[in-house]
Amino acid sequence: MKDKLLFSAPMAGISDKPFRLILRKFTSRPLYTEMIGISTLFHNHHVTRKMLHISDEKNIIVQLVGIEEKYMVHATKEALFYGAKGIDINMGCPVKKLITNGSGASLMKDEKEACHLVEVVKKNAGDVPVSVKTRIGWDEDNINVVSFAKALERAGADRVTIHGRTKHAGYSGPVNKDAIKAVKQALSIPVIANGDVVDQKTAEEMLKITQADGIMIGRGLLGKPWIMAEIDGLSVPKFQLSDLILEHLDLMLSYYGMHGLLVARKHLAWYASGFEERALFLNQIYQEKSVDKVQKMIKDFFSQLK
Ligand SMILES: Cc1cc2nc3c(=O)[nH]c(=O)nc-3n(C[C@H](O)[C@H](O)[C@H](O)COP(=O)(O)O)c2cc1C
Repeated sequence: MKDKLLFSAPMAGISDKPFRLILRKFTSRPLYTEMIGISTLFHNHHVTRKMLHISDEKNIIVQLVGIEEKYMVHATKEALFYGAKGIDINMGCPVKKLITNGSGASLMKDEKEACHLVEVVKKNAGDVPVSVKTRIGWDEDNINVVSFAKALERAGADRVTIHGRTKHAGYSGPVNKDAIKAVKQALSIPVIANGDVVDQKTAEEMLKITQADGIMIGRGLLGKPWIMAEIDGLSVPKFQLSDLILEHLDLMLSYYGMHGLLVARKHLAWYASGFEERALFLNQIYQEKSVDKVQKMIKDFFSQLK
């Protein structure tokens, strides 16, 4: 992977600062924020604003979602102020709320608007690269990613990431690697392949078929934040799983306050996959409100051998 690009995926509700700080222990590759709504950011919603607090991190790409030009300019400037190393525009999210306002995956159906957004961000981003993350099309009858990505390139995009599924397919079913390959063959800018890469083998397979310039990995990181190092062919630094999880919990508590205990649940469920007595452990953890007790339960449970 040395000569290839590698990115962690933006994942709403997951790629927050605590998660990135844990990923950062294993990789120096660029990490994406979760998508940041440009309209809520403009209206100064504190939760959204906090997502931009990346100044103390290195090599972070901020992903923006929305369509209003005024808000996009504002969000781009804010992201640069906080030290973003790249601005990515979300043109693939299938969530209904985004689709109904014409953003996310809807932009695949509105090439003109999509290109306009790239031009707007590009004009305000200075030297910082501007990328787009999208899908192969709206549904199986409308796979338009080659012409769409070519238009984005003409509009000034510096890189595109293609999740090899349609908006209708959501997050399951086969990843269309041939469609990603077709994009790679048609474009001069870097093309990043995304979808179901979970380890070195699936990364190599993805690169071999698509000939893409790099890989983006999302769900494969859940409960396995060291996977980027493995894909990179680096030796993963030795660590005690229970210590890593306790550190992740601490980061969540510092970032979210006591609400961090709730946010931690999904991560604990991922960390515990494959462990015997997982269901019992999660059941107990989900009922526990004391941080000290949760910490002890994590220590006891994850100290057992896999
Ligand atoms: C819980 C969840 C949240 C996601 N949030 C975003 C997001 O904020 N922005 C985005 O472009 N894609 C988002 N995605 C899509 C991922 O970035 C990625 O394209 C998709 O999961 C396929 O890659 P994977 O198989 O490696 O997970 C999300 C996916 C999941 C599962």
